[in-house]
Amino acid sequence: MNIFCDDGSTAVKLAWYDNEKLHMSLSSNSFRSGWKVEGMGMRQTFNYELDGKKYTYDEVSNESIRTTHIEYQYTDLNVLAVHHALLNSGLKPQKVSLTVTLPISEYYTKECQKNELNIQRKIANLMRKVKLNKGEVFTIEHVEVMPESLPAVFARLVKDNVGQYEKSLVIDLGGTTLDVGVIVGQFDSVSAIHGNSEIGVSQVTNAALTALKMASSNTSAMVADELIKQRNNPEFVRQVINDENKTALVLDTIESAIASLSAQVVDDLAGFRDVNRVYIVGGGAPLIVDAVKTAWHHLGSKVVMMDSPQTSLVESIAAFKGE
Ligand SMILES: Nc1ncnc2c1ncn2[C@@H]1O[C@H](COP(=O)(O)OP(=O)(O)OP(=O)(O)O)[C@@H](O)[C@H]1O
Ligand SMILES: [Mg+2]
Repeated sequence: MNIFCDDGSTAVKLAWYDNEKLHMSLSSNSFRSGWKVEGMGMRQTFNYELDGKKYTYDEVSNESIRTTHIEYQYTDLNVLAVHHALLNSGLKPQKVSLTVTLPISEYYTKECQKNELNIQRKIANLMRKVKLNKGEVFTIEHVEVMPESLPAVFARLVKDNVGQYEKSLVIDLGGTTLDVGVIVGQFDSVSAIHGNSEIGVSQVTNAALTALKMASSNTSAMVADELIKQRNNPEFVRQVINDENKTALVLDTIESAIASLSAQVVDDLAGFRDVNRVYIVGGGAPLIVDAVKTAWHHLGSKVVMMDSPQTSLVESIAAFKGE
């Protein structure tokens, strides 16, 4: 079975075909070392073993291992994240062929050539055997690697009738990295790539975590991310912030971190002012869309955030590769 997998450092996005119908699922990365006690609570426990090391899936632990760094692509955690996403997709454990992704800046060398070394390193990493305590895992038989970001707009460029001399800037803001590329025409060529592994949503996550700690609400990155998404939902805000007197502090911290992130993105992409179109993808897209629209206001409606920006890459790869 073919499974398309945008295995980002914060979340794994899966897509596959079943009777010509495209299915998708999303799994957040939140693991810690050691195993959990079995059989407590309603949810299944996922205790893993990889090369003799024990890990467990834990959504709320403040000891969850940080995955938001570029080396993540070649670590134990990446293998676990992919297996965990497969196990939670609703599919039965079976033999699978995977198409996974690498950030543009890892996939290509500085000279815009495929970085075979990184690609092989990623494949070798994913072929390692994982054990699930008291359970069966998927067998990964074959791995292919595609670049992140750019394929997300394949179909959209055609739909928008992009002319052969037009240049489109694709901005992908993920948990860890800002990945961008410039596409000429309807993918006639790629004229520039640029990655910045210092800029990602994790900046906002970390600011939120620090503020939450001050509000006696030490928690995991995953919960902090959920708060960022639901910052305008008072009920959710009350659930995660224990010290009510610090609510304003936490929310203000999040807003200023978003503003700072937006400013860094716009600043980092100053060299791309002259493109003809801008497409925004990645989970962080909703956080920066306004700032990007302002910075490229001369393009008007040609600045577009993709529908469901977090999953548009994996959807597009699935459509491109077909069943
Ligand atoms: N609607 C939303 N509003 C704000 N943030 C969001 C939204 N949806 C997702 N995010 C955040 O986006 C981040 C994940 O984005 P994405 O899945 O693109 O990252 P990734 O691919 O795992 O990271 P990278 O590409 O850097 O390795 C998470 O921090 C998540 O909380
Ligand atoms: Mg990504």
